[in-house]
Amino acid sequence: MKQQQMIEETRKLMRSELADDATGHDYYHIERVHRLAKYIAQQEGGDAFVVEMAALLHDWEDWKHCKDCKRSKTKKYLKSLELEKPTRKHILSIIETMSFQGGLVDSSQATIEGQIVQDCDRLDALGAIGIARAFAYGGAKSHLLYDPFLLVQEAKTLEELQHRKQHTIHHFYEKLLKLNDLLYTESAKKIAVRRHRYLQTYLDEFYHEWYFEAEDLDDNHR
Ligand code: ADP
Ligand code: NI
Repeated sequence: MKQQQMIEETRKLMRSELADDATGHDYYHIERVHRLAKYIAQQEGGDAFVVEMAALLHDWEDWKHCKDCKRSKTKKYLKSLELEKPTRKHILSIIETMSFQGGLVDSSQATIEGQIVQDCDRLDALGAIGIARAFAYGGAKSHLLYDPFLLVQEAKTLEELQHRKQHTIHHFYEKLLKLNDLLYTESAKKIAVRRHRYLQTYLDEFYHEWYFEAEDLDDNHR
């Protein structure tokens, strides 16, 4: 099979596999990450095929949904494509180290291909879409939007990370606002500027509404 055909097959497979996820890993997340990764690979270089395949497959067997599956479907699928072993291994190693997991694991990326895919995954957690995904995730897990009296405990294990009591605004501080400093590529950093700023503006507005005071109303709002 030609590389372009493999990419298309993989895209179709992900469309059917991830159609119904309501925790922010639905197929359209994959499509956005794929599109961005393709663009950034054009700017930054690297093996575009590896970038595209890792972008498409990166959330298929995410640790949160699939603790003990050890990427078995992904491995089997890559084998079925009859790719060369180093290519298969490279794609797999990117996917395995992609996730932030509360900063509890080493998710650093050794290759430019991995750096590009991880940057794109992180860009999709920023900005307007990132905010929507965070609240969708929180809703799916029955978290409150915000609770000013809930001091969320720092998680020391993945178990705690998933099961402690939390609210979604906390996630902005724990992860989202830190992401722009963790990006590797210049192209991603450029895209992140606006998205990061939007998170900050959003939080300002959120608190402004939450702690409503009549004196804040100016003529425009009366
Ligand atoms: P990654 O795979 O990069 O670690 P995740 O799978 O943790 O990313 O996150 C997927 C999406 O869900 C992201 O948009 C992320 O911000 C959001 N998300 C993850 N954990 C939480 C949480 N505790 N509260 C709100 N949103 C979350
Ligand atoms: Ni992702």
